[in-house]
Amino acid sequence: MLVAPSILSADFGNLQRDVEAICNAGCDYVHIDVMDGHFVPNMTIGPVVVSSVAKASTKPLDIHLMVENNSFFVDLFAKYNPAFISFHIEEEKHPHRLIQKIKSLGIKAGIVLNPHTRIESIEYLLSDLDLVLLMSVNPGFGGQSFIPSVIPKVKLLKELINKTNSKAIIEVDGGVSDKNIKELKVAGVDMVVAGSYVFKNDYKEAINSLKV
Ligand code: DX5
Ligand code: ZN
Repeated sequence: MLVAPSILSADFGNLQRDVEAICNAGCDYVHIDVMDGHFVPNMTIGPVVVSSVAKASTKPLDIHLMVENNSFFVDLFAKYNPAFISFHIEEEKHPHRLIQKIKSLGIKAGIVLNPHTRIESIEYLLSDLDLVLLMSVNPGFGGQSFIPSVIPKVKLLKELINKTNSKAIIEVDGGVSDKNIKELKVAGVDMVVAGSYVFKNDYKEAINSLKV
């Protein structure tokens, strides 16, 4: 299991220290939650902070956009060389075009689905995608409870990925901990985001407990 701690739960007064600490503790990616106060009722991280995180991090960045104007934010963040940029299908009129744009910038492209959004909505995009991120909480805040209906959704997605010969990996974000990691693994998840679970515990022990 690949592990991407979400720095949303880090200490923003000591962000460099926390980013270095999760990298030294063995995370695979650093997950960055970008919220614009429009698509979700919270505002978080812009390019100034991403620039500092990119400098502090020895691991690749996994950027999760929760914004209204995806294309604008892709342009804004591309210069920090993230491994992934993922955007919400609920907020994009031209997802196929945006996937091509992200890939043309040398970045892997991901799509995010809210808990209510049907897998079928991305069927014709799967062969172009590098990653599908299934939300297991409603986006906007860290520290929420895991929504268990994501488990059958992961299984359905896995079937559709196989059927369409897609190479997309499956990521799950929200309420992930040692309590649900095995179930997520068995269902077919490749990568998890964990915010409060990592930052409220010993970073190394928490990350290791998710590497199932
Ligand atoms: C929620 C964010 C998540 C969040 C995860 O909108 O996308 O990445 O920070 O936090 P936890 O692991 O605390 O649910
Ligand atoms: Zn996220």
